[in-house]
Amino acid sequence: MARYEIIGGNPLNGTVTISGAKNAAVAILPAALLVDGKCRIENVPDISDVRHLLNILAGMGAKIEKPEPGVVEIDSTGLGCTEPDPALVRKMRASYYLMGVLLGRFGKAHVALPGGCNFAARPIDQHIKGFMALGADVEETDEYVDLRPGPDGLQGNRISLDMASVGATVNIMIAGVLLPGQTIIENAAKEPHIVDLANFLNTMGARVYGAGTDTIKIRGVESLKGGTYAIIPDQIEAGTYLAAVAAAGGNVLVQNVIPKHMECITSKLEEMGAKVINYDDSIRIMQSGRLRRTTVKTRPYPGFPTDMQAQICVCMALASGVSRLTESVYETRFFGYCTELESMGANIQVSGKTATVVGVENLYGATVCAHDLRAGAALVIAGLSAQGTTYVEDIHYVERGYENLIGKLTALGAEIRRLED
Ligand code: EPU
Repeated sequence: MARYEIIGGNPLNGTVTISGAKNAAVAILPAALLVDGKCRIENVPDISDVRHLLNILAGMGAKIEKPEPGVVEIDSTGLGCTEPDPALVRKMRASYYLMGVLLGRFGKAHVALPGGCNFAARPIDQHIKGFMALGADVEETDEYVDLRPGPDGLQGNRISLDMASVGATVNIMIAGVLLPGQTIIENAAKEPHIVDLANFLNTMGARVYGAGTDTIKIRGVESLKGGTYAIIPDQIEAGTYLAAVAAAGGNVLVQNVIPKHMECITSKLEEMGAKVINYDDSIRIMQSGRLRRTTVKTRPYPGFPTDMQAQICVCMALASGVSRLTESVYETRFFGYCTELESMGANIQVSGKTATVVGVENLYGATVCAHDLRAGAALVIAGLSAQGTTYVEDIHYVERGYENLIGKLTALGAEIRRLED
């Protein structure tokens, strides 16, 4: 299995360009199947989750072309498949968006239950509740979800989510776009990729209002037309590079970002002592010397993202003083990386939802294992800032969500290589 070798200790300097947002791409690409025509989607990240998803869509009969780097054209004219290949679907989380897409376009779907990063129990009861409110009969087993029109047919309805779930908001939004009547999602997720999906759908002719607030209204339309859309920059990829500079030191311009999306992250890094300058579509971060302790609680957007929990933990591990990190979205997320960081010399005690991180002066190279995508990214940051050589194993998780990680870090002066075994 391939792994990363990182010789730590080099500060990061230069410019890094952020790719399109993974979690927007994995919603927008399947949503293109709602369009009986051709969509040109730009700023698509070249990551394994996207490649995998495109294989699923191609297997369903969509015509996929990549006319230039970062651009994907999807033509689903005449598509009829409502049962995507279960073996492929099980390999990634976001494949469950095909449930909403197929229900919306064809009125039925038979989709295997998804795989993905298993850092916590990840139920889909809110998605199912939404489909049922839209009039679907749902059969759910341990293996698959089967959706069909119920006795009164499919139509818009009001759905109040028990928690602001990103996945349920996406699935209900894409299911509702082509249904008759109005669908209202209350307590909707507000993450930037929710707004991006709504903007994509509206560009293709949908009528989605209020995305980015906690109430989204969708007025059903008869059909969507093709068009061109560019995906927003990846908030978490950008946050990962900012955290890497904060931990390893240096001076980096992170470009192709939306600074407003980054405020929840940059404000914490500033509190820890990093110098941050915002420009229109880029952020400069400068760090030398030791970071200061802080307190972070993860929350849905616009709070501090759970997907940055592990990366900020590395910064805390190296800061002076005792930091506290509380997870409020996925309780068990600490287990993916805290033990690995401890093997590099970090001092972290996890108790329930909170990690107490006693800062140390140095981390030391070790062989560590990535248990999920963001945990893996955090271990790479730890390796960059550690003394000695770190080997990060199970890097297929990292490659699900970071485009050209080695190339981007090497250009910033890091010593990192991908070793094939
Ligand atoms: N939840 C339920 N029932 C549901 C849905 C969610 O109980 O039906 C709970 C979850 O267990 C969790 C909370 O609600 O405790 C929030 O889950 P959410 O549905 O918002 O998460 P998700 O849609 O499964 C997306 C991202 C994750 C990110 C979370 C939170 C995608 C493909 N994935 O997951 O991204 O952590 O939102 O922001 O968009 C990552 O990129 O590394 C990643 C894991």
